[in-house]
Amino acid sequence: MKDFERENNRSKRVHIDIQREENEKVVLCEENELSSEVKRKEKRDDHESKKERDNNTHGNICIKKSSLNKLIPKVVQTKYPIKQVHVDEKYKVLLCAYLVSKLVQSSIADKSKQNINRLPPGPKQWPIVGNLFQLGQLPHRDMASFCEKYGPLVYLRLGNVDAITTNDPEIIREILVQQDDVFASRPRTLAAVHLAYGCGDVALAPLGPKWKRMRRICMEHLLTTKRLESFKKHRADEAQNLVKDVWDKAQKGQIVNLREILGGFSMNNVTRMLLGKQYFGAESAGPQEAMEFMHVTHELFWLLGVIYLGDYLPLWRWIDPYGCEKKMRDVEKRIDDFHMRIIEEHRKKKDSKSNNIDDDDETEMDFVDVLLSLLGEDEEDGNGKQHMDDVEIKALIQDMIAAATDTSAVTNEWAMAEVIKHPHVLKKIQEELDIVVGWGRMVMESDLINLKYLRCVVRETFRMHPAGPFLIPHESIRDTNINGYYIPAKTRVFINTHGLGRNTKIWDNIDEFRPERHLPPNDDKENNINARVEISHGPDFKILPFSAGKRKCPGAPLGVKLVLMALARLFHCYDWSPPNGARPEDIETNEVYGMTMPKAKPLMAVAKPRLPAHLYH
Ligand code: HEM
Repeated sequence: MKDFERENNRSKRVHIDIQREENEKVVLCEENELSSEVKRKEKRDDHESKKERDNNTHGNICIKKSSLNKLIPKVVQTKYPIKQVHVDEKYKVLLCAYLVSKLVQSSIADKSKQNINRLPPGPKQWPIVGNLFQLGQLPHRDMASFCEKYGPLVYLRLGNVDAITTNDPEIIREILVQQDDVFASRPRTLAAVHLAYGCGDVALAPLGPKWKRMRRICMEHLLTTKRLESFKKHRADEAQNLVKDVWDKAQKGQIVNLREILGGFSMNNVTRMLLGKQYFGAESAGPQEAMEFMHVTHELFWLLGVIYLGDYLPLWRWIDPYGCEKKMRDVEKRIDDFHMRIIEEHRKKKDSKSNNIDDDDETEMDFVDVLLSLLGEDEEDGNGKQHMDDVEIKALIQDMIAAATDTSAVTNEWAMAEVIKHPHVLKKIQEELDIVVGWGRMVMESDLINLKYLRCVVRETFRMHPAGPFLIPHESIRDTNINGYYIPAKTRVFINTHGLGRNTKIWDNIDEFRPERHLPPNDDKENNINARVEISHGPDFKILPFSAGKRKCPGAPLGVKLVLMALARLFHCYDWSPPNGARPEDIETNEVYGMTMPKAKPLMAVAKPRLPAHLYH
């Protein structure tokens, strides 16, 4: 309303100005009244120009009209040339200043308009497919080279999807911390729809109340310190089984397939905790069930990792030349049958126990028992759902298996490969173990915090070989800006953890495996300052093993335990060397792309026991 009045007054005044100026012109033409009239005019001119100077905004129109008229009075010019020239110059200067300021203003406005919608730089795009076909077998390496060429934040058009990628700690912090509420969602990919119960899980669910509820259940009931403590004995058993497996092979002079035994160790730990079953080894669920389970989970991992063209090109989805979506539906069905069987078994077991679960029983509960026994919000506060339905339970079990098993197994295989490749690192690890643990017992979980050098080895492994080449893709929920660049809503975000660990702007000698680079600088033995070595991103975001922000890995404490325990036991109990007389430096370290990023070839090695024999049984 006020604006309207102001506008109205302004146009009235303009109208008056024009009339007054027109009268003036007539009056000015009367020679006899010239002198007094000119004086009056000069006075008014001064006043006008002051007013115009004082008031830039409403001056817009006044200046235009009055200045135009001021440029007209030719009579005054001829009669009083000197004075009038002075007046005209002043207005000319004003007009010029005004025009220049307008030009500058509009060019700034244009620029900022361009800036607001300026996408980050990136490679040239092809029609329809955009940059899709510029990504090869190792897309994390292709994207890292784009960052090298175009800068720390790169825009890609993948079919009909906007995407950004980065390998820069500051941009990563901006995305995961400063703008966490914008970027904490997930894209609805076909794999997520088919293989994660319609995105009804934790890891692949878009941001929203459903994800929040599932994540809360995960944090408050499954991955609590108390619950994890209750599985300590199972973990110790599995660590001993691992040592024993290698012992048996070493006694027979066999080469150890480290991928196989580390995979079994992770899988058994996870399935014992989740499902109450061991799938490999003495008390295993049975070879047929174990094989089926392994087979279907491997297919699941593969499908989850694939960059499926149908997610980016609707036409491709329609044709589906390799039957990928059909495969997803097939795996979905087999996995669902498997989970359903597990839930039924647990229900039967629960029903057969007549009374309520007391505290002692609670320590024996696996995750499925816990989820089945959760009291619904209905029973706690009189509203909400009764308890988790079967689909939610299946989605959560599925997530845990997928998120926990492969990540820790892949990390362990890489760490073993790099250590066997670098015998001086193995020697230093063993020196530390001999001091902290000694030769008279096995490593226990309580030792892990004191194995600083080994922790640096794990950090260095995460730098060079993060469990996944990217974090699970994030997606923006609304338009935003990063570093002055426009990022549209629904942009897919590929945070390149592999590229971060090999970013030459933050790491030197990137291809050198050197755990010492992670030793804390303020570690001072003489003054007994004993800094801890954390296996997390830390304040500098130079490694990102478990991510940060809302989507950070809720299983990190367990993941760290599984990794450190397996490595500590294997290095404490055995000396390791490559098989068949190969040299350590011959161990290849090529990776294959997937949701996790394993070594291209399984790691094979020879183990030689180094502790007293009785400790191995
Ligand atoms: C060495 C072992 C592990 C590593 C390196 C690891 C790493 C990660 C990473 C990088 C993410 C993605 C975060 C993001 O997208 O920003 C993630 C997510 C997740 N991890 Fe882990 N993880 C490990 C073990 C585990 C374990 C043991 C569990 C549970 C038992 C677990 C459960 C999850 C879940 C549920 C998510 C999804 C979180 C969400 O989207 O809200 N992880 N993990």
